[in-house]
Amino acid sequence: MALVTTTEMFKKAYEGGYAIGAFNVNNMEIVQGITEAAGELRAPLILQVSKGARAYANHTYLVKLVEAALAETNDLPIALHLDHGDSFELCKDCIDGGFTSVMIDMSSKPFDENIEVTKKVVEYAHDKGVVVEAELGTLAGIEDEVQVSAEDSSYTRPEDVEEFVDRTGCDSLAIAIGTSHGAYKFKPGTKPQLRFDILEEVEKRLPNFPIVLHGASSVPQEFVEKINKYGGNMPGAIGVPEDQLRKAASMAVCKINIDSDLRLAMTASIREHFVNNPADFDPRQYLKPARAAIKAMVAHKITDVLGCENAC
Ligand code: G3H
Ligand code: 13P
Ligand code: ZN
Repeated sequence: MALVTTTEMFKKAYEGGYAIGAFNVNNMEIVQGITEAAGELRAPLILQVSKGARAYANHTYLVKLVEAALAETNDLPIALHLDHGDSFELCKDCIDGGFTSVMIDMSSKPFDENIEVTKKVVEYAHDKGVVVEAELGTLAGIEDEVQVSAEDSSYTRPEDVEEFVDRTGCDSLAIAIGTSHGAYKFKPGTKPQLRFDILEEVEKRLPNFPIVLHGASSVPQEFVEKINKYGGNMPGAIGVPEDQLRKAASMAVCKINIDSDLRLAMTASIREHFVNNPADFDPRQYLKPARAAIKAMVAHKITDVLGCENAC
């Protein structure tokens, strides 16, 4: 089986009241940890690659790693997606280079410019059988080289979404309802609360249309505590509560993006390993438990947050 687009997985996810996990990949151990969990739980999967990941690991290495994972997972539906494409050219490179889905993120640009560039990507992508995610509204946090402060972030305006989707022809839409990128999503002491009223309004205006949630790591405190215990320094790292993600998945949200939780699982494991095994210097000694930590974290997401276990 070849890599698939997200069309079929989103349709089933919408109808089934669950979401597909979209996990960021940067190296072999991350790809393996994620796909081993999804393969065992028969959960459809999106593996996504950022511009920074492409710069770090190289386009061809990442595509080949994902193709290898596909071959090892016994026909699991896997989509290979560009995360936060920031130009037509980057999207085109990925479309021409084996990706089955791309995101064009013009969310920081004015509405008409966002539409213009998104439409151009959609026309090129659809011609090649590739699907397109777009974004309306601005998340706070760090994406690739762009840092958006909480003051400059803005919720999606539901009154804009029909016109945006009509004029661009995009296949899915990322919206801003209070999530943010990175490990520091909410101020310590405040109650994290997503704007489900906005999601509901978007859902009403775009019936059966797949919605995407970026910045959706839950920043498990067990990882933060372990990192801090074993020499790290991440005070006040807070994510989106899992019950709110589960609720979003039962609504129109069909794709939930997770990167920070992968980083935390891996870093916590490696820090612990080095403190307990200071003489180790073979990378396999610390990457093996790190890969297992990723696998366990992803398995938990699939069964308890996304709800997509045995969905294929
Ligand atoms: O949204 C951003 C993702 O976490 C990717 O992060 O650009 O550092 O690879 P990155
Ligand atoms: P997190 O930083 O919450 O993992 O978000 C990842 C993301 O949105 C990738 O596009
Ligand atoms: Zn994102």
